[in-house]
Amino acid sequence: MHAAAPARPSKLSIIGAGGVGVAIAYAALIRGSADIVALHDLDGPKVDAEVLDLAHGTQFLASKRVEGGTDPRVMAGSDVVVITAGAKQQPGEPRLALAHRNAEIVKAVLPGIREHAPEAIVVLVTNPCDVLTVVAQREGGLDPARVLASGTVLDSSRLRWLLSELVRVDARSVHALMIGEHGDSEFPLWSRAKIGPVLVREWEQESGERFTDADLDGIADDVVHAAYRIIEGKGATSSAIGVSTARIVEAILRDERAVLPVSSVLDGQHGLSGIALSLPTVVGRGGIERVLEVPMDDGELRRLHASAETIAATLRSVGG
Ligand code: LAC
Repeated sequence: MHAAAPARPSKLSIIGAGGVGVAIAYAALIRGSADIVALHDLDGPKVDAEVLDLAHGTQFLASKRVEGGTDPRVMAGSDVVVITAGAKQQPGEPRLALAHRNAEIVKAVLPGIREHAPEAIVVLVTNPCDVLTVVAQREGGLDPARVLASGTVLDSSRLRWLLSELVRVDARSVHALMIGEHGDSEFPLWSRAKIGPVLVREWEQESGERFTDADLDGIADDVVHAAYRIIEGKGATSSAIGVSTARIVEAILRDERAVLPVSSVLDGQHGLSGIALSLPTVVGRGGIERVLEVPMDDGELRRLHASAETIAATLRSVGG
């Protein structure tokens, strides 16, 4: 009886050793999202230092190994490649304003992925991630199911945390989604948001009070402006996008078929095609397994189309 061949170790590569890329690497290593994590950047001293600093903690990490460098061959054999390289938002700057600069950077890294990690599923984190998902899919000639963006996974986590704080219920029992653009035109799907089995709109605090529309608008506003607030204070966001992206990587590598609001190129969902935005999506080893055309009310549908048009306008401006 021959023992089964050992499974090949799973590999995550991250392009960009800036704050976001390193946060994703760190989160993935601690969570064991992938067996091997590789960091790639053109800045040699920086990427070497970041890899060394991460490797020094190896005995405390769930993953087996961290490696990296300036040679794109460090991505060889990757199952997932996360793109974080690019300019970051300046205080008060919307993500869409980064489109032209970062579209060029994304186009520049695609040949290396195609050559060294042709089987990888590509995850865009660089902003504006929805626009750049379409750019990557088209420029890279990628299967639309195998290119996605972190999208509103982070924003939905922000929404869930805010609600959990208000209702004093574990965030894991708060089921709420931000959908649309990962940006200023995103919005909460209140019609489907629940605290446990209770619709948010029907929830009663211990005082008996319910959320008013003004309360809900305020919560949504806090989510939309969360990144701006953090950028004002520390120059960029990193920790929550790091762990959010590690979570997406796990759903792919473990073939979880988990429902996550990642962004992908739509193919007719809600009448939308050829642009990418976040909808609840079944994520597994094939990347985008199924985009859920979640029923929503007329107001939500209008906001979804408005968000789509915002993204489409920027996509047209970068020639996408
Ligand atoms: C944020 C960045 C990742 O929302 O766009 O924190």
